Amino acid sequence: MAVPTKEEDEDPPISSTSLLSFDTDDCSTSIPPKPPFSSVIFTPLILVTCVSLSTAIIFAYLFFSHSSVSFISHVSRPLQKLKHPVVLLISSDGFRFGYQYKTDTPNIDRLIRNGTEAELGLIPVFPTLTFPNHYAIVTGLYPAYHGIINNIFLDPNIREPFTMASYDPKWWLGEPLWETVVNHGLKAATYFWPGSEVNKGGWTCPESLCKIYNGSVPFEERVDTVLNYFDLPNSEIPSFMTLYFGDPDHQGHKVGPDDPQITEAIARVDGMIGKLIQGLEARGVFEDVNIIMLGDHGMVGTCDKKLIFLEDLARWIKIPKDWIQSYSPLLSIRPPPSYSSKDVVTKMNEGLKSGKVKNGQYLKVYVKEELPDRLHYSESDRIPPIIGLIDEAFKVEQKSSKRNECGGSHGYDNAFFSMRSIFIGHGPKFARGRKVPSFENVQIYNMVTTILNIQGASNNGTSSFPKTILLPSH
Ligand SMILES: *[C@@H]1O[C@H](CO)[C@@H](O)[C@H](O)[C@H]1NC(C)=O
Ligand SMILES: *[C@@H]1O[C@H](CO)[C@@H](O)[C@H](O)[C@H]1NC(C)=O
Ligand SMILES: *[C@@H]1O[C@H](CO)[C@@H](O)[C@H](O)[C@H]1NC(C)=O
Ligand SMILES: [Zn+2]
Repeated sequence: MAVPTKEEDEDPPISSTSLLSFDTDDCSTSIPPKPPFSSVIFTPLILVTCVSLSTAIIFAYLFFSHSSVSFISHVSRPLQKLKHPVVLLISSDGFRFGYQYKTDTPNIDRLIRNGTEAELGLIPVFPTLTFPNHYAIVTGLYPAYHGIINNIFLDPNIREPFTMASYDPKWWLGEPLWETVVNHGLKAATYFWPGSEVNKGGWTCPESLCKIYNGSVPFEERVDTVLNYFDLPNSEIPSFMTLYFGDPDHQGHKVGPDDPQITEAIARVDGMIGKLIQGLEARGVFEDVNIIMLGDHGMVGTCDKKLIFLEDLARWIKIPKDWIQSYSPLLSIRPPPSYSSKDVVTKMNEGLKSGKVKNGQYLKVYVKEELPDRLHYSESDRIPPIIGLIDEAFKVEQKSSKRNECGGSHGYDNAFFSMRSIFIGHGPKFARGRKVPSFENVQIYNMVTTILNIQGASNNGTSSFPKTILLPSH
């Protein structure tokens, strides 16, 4: 289980952006950090060799780059037909990392082979749920700061429920990409994305460029609409577009990640990517568009009665239903103000660790301030004071029932590999055939503003991150 850390996010730029370090890589790695005595004498020799080799390579490069020999591109490729950079952000909901190997995906493979891929997937934010993650992708903020801390929740100050159809701007904090883009006088278009229906700042969700969510709209229609934006006069073509597919999440919940229905759904999503590529090629703009294809989270099977019942804790503490904001896979509890959260947590954990609660060892409860820092899940009144971390594939319920528990779920700790999704970037700003280490999706915001050459709002991404992923401008 690889725990994402800040250090991992801040990996130094991959050396292929710099000719010198690229070509001397082999030399530098052959020098151990603490050379044993015998190699001390040889190190200077190796260094001298490296330096002279690099010099030779630089001269060779300067010589050939002035001739017509075509070199692997180290800078972003010039636009052929479009007059300004365009980013098309595509989400396939619940596209767990690895689904791309379930079946032939010739179209996604085209993006991967000629684009930049997070080799072991994209790391979602915690909780690994749809709304918190989609909104983290477009704001660069962790849920505690962008306000959408769950798919459904109560704000103790607003005292009304947030649902996935709440379009009042009071819920949606931070500055989503479509807002940043229009604030800079550029155009944005959204074919579905959580939060895109909300009027905020300069963004008014204009009818021709912004669709109100309706999951029944056929995927084909969504792709065709996006393609039509490229038929507009050049100056009218939106600089930023979103496209959203609710599959394979939809199937994943019903049948879990390893059912043939998932394989079918993947083939269908791949077909939509194919339709999109074809349409862009027909318009002569495929190589001009920066396509970012990703998912919001992964999926894990929840079969075999891997259940924990809160009722079983009654000997230690009674947890009534109305304290619970969500059960699974994010357990969040708001006891009445007369209770000490710390006390409730202590009693719950006592019970869970006692060996007398079925599957108790698979749940650990925290006051939110004591959750691991890497989850960034405490700095908001909206986050209930008590949060439970549930082990992969387990579920928490009030009490035993006859319900069928088999299916799939997500929302768990973002350190679980099963919660990872995919990241592929294809287009003028992305190197062809490049693999990069996994990163958290809060980095996407700065990546998009960098491609569009606009100043983004402050956020939780690392400002130096885009240059580790994108080709530098020429
Ligand atoms: C990758 O790009 C090159 C250069 O444009 C092109 O010739 C090739 O057909 C592309 N490969 C795929 C798999 O799309
Ligand atoms: C949602 O889309 C379907 C398919 O296009 C359409 O028949 C239906 O009327 C739409 N619903 C709403 C509320 O617009
Ligand atoms: C995230 O970004 C917000 C807005 O810039 C900032 O207030 C907050 O301190 C940041 N949090 C972390 C953990 O970086
Ligand atoms: Zn989702």
